[in-house]
Order: sequence, then C-alpha cells, then structure tokens
Amino acid sequence: MRYLTFALAKGRLAKDSLAMFEKIGITCEEMKDKGSRKLIFTNEELGMRFFLAKASDVPTYVEYGAADIGIVGKDTLLEEGRKLYEVMNLGMGNCRMCVCGPKSAQELLKHHEMIRVATKYPAIAKDYFYNKKHQTVEIIKLNGSIELAPIVGLSEVIVDIVETGATLRENGLDVLEEICPLSARMVVNQVSMKRENDRITKLIHDLRTLLQEENQ
Ligand code: PRP
Repeated sequence: MRYLTFALAKGRLAKDSLAMFEKIGITCEEMKDKGSRKLIFTNEELGMRFFLAKASDVPTYVEYGAADIGIVGKDTLLEEGRKLYEVMNLGMGNCRMCVCGPKSAQELLKHHEMIRVATKYPAIAKDYFYNKKHQTVEIIKLNGSIELAPIVGLSEVIVDIVETGATLRENGLDVLEEICPLSARMVVNQVSMKRENDRITKLIHDLRTLLQEENQ
C-alpha cells in the first residue's frame, strides 16, 4: 500500500488535528516522543506518514504532491494561493482577518486615502484594498508582532489575525474593518484526490461524522 502523507502546520493546529485524528482511529505514536529530532513519522499499519512543516509551506507540499493531505489555516491558503482542493473546514482555530489600527485611522479608511498597511499577509491585504475597497495603499511586509507597526509609526493600519482581541486591546488598537472569518482547513492534492479517492473519501467522511457528533 502506498503511504498517504499528511503535512501538518506546526504548532497548536498540528496538536489539535492529531488529537482529532486519534478520535477516528488514526494514531501516530512515533510523533508523541517529544525528544525526537525526526521530521517524518510513520504508522506502518495504516500506511500513513505525517510531517510537521511551517504553516506557509504546507500548501506548497500539497500542491506538488509531496503530501497528499494538508492541515492548515485559511489565512495561509488565501495568502499562498496554491492549486489544491480545500475539502473541509475542521472548525478549529476560529479567528478573523481584520484591518486594525488606532480609532483615529478609521477616517483614513473611509476617505480612500493613501495609507501604509503593515502585514504578514501582503496578498490578502492587496486583494482587500485593491479589489474590494478600490483603495490604493502601500503594503509593508512584516514577519511578526504586526501590532507594533501603527504604534511606532511604521504604518497607519495593519492587516492581521484577531482571535480573542487581547493583543489589540493591550496595545490600544481596534478592529476597524473585518476582511473574512478564518479557521483550520483540510486540503488535498488534486492528483491524490483521484488516485487515493477511497481512502481520502473515508477520511473526510469519518471526520465529518466526528464533527457532527461533537457539535450535537
Ligand atoms: C497572532 C496575530 C495577533 C494575535 C491575535 O500572532 O498576529 O498578533 O495572534 O490573537 P489575539 O486576538 O487572541 O490577541 P501570533 O501570536 O501568531 O504571533 P506573531 O505576532 O508572530 O504573528
């Protein structure tokens, strides 16, 4: 049997999705060894392999077929724009992509002024401002702690993920506009979807059943 290979976005999402897989009988004992430096973990009985990757690389592995299945946030899927099938909303990691800033920046958004937007998600920010709002902006790519940008005067607003809103509150910033809701998704390589249709369809069915039971 050919291995079914899973790419999981490192961090809480990987932990939560593995816990979800366990509930439908997909386990990977090898992965639980915290001291291990191994990068890929196998369950020979199930014919499955799992590896952890940086979230933004998960869609790349799946598009090229190095992984059949990926678990990653919708934010990353929108930003990377890879060719793959998004088959399921896993209903975890729920948050929102928003334009945020000090309240005073609200006016700048209303009047379509030329402003600077700092973000880890330049493609999402560009699509929102250029295609939806028709506002010309300068997009500045950052790699983390995006909330700093309006505080130190790098930009007027930011485009970033808001989960609890605590980071914004503690830094005197607000949600000014909501771009879209986000959550974890399961994605599948387009060729794998045909070649491994039975196994992948069963997996999706089992996960859907689990989610329905848990939501009852
Ligand atoms: C994310 C996001 C916000 C924060 C939102 O950052 O970029 O900063 O979480 O969560 P909250 O609304 O619950 O406060 P993350 O911790 O992933 O790190 P980063 O700053 O490196 O992006």
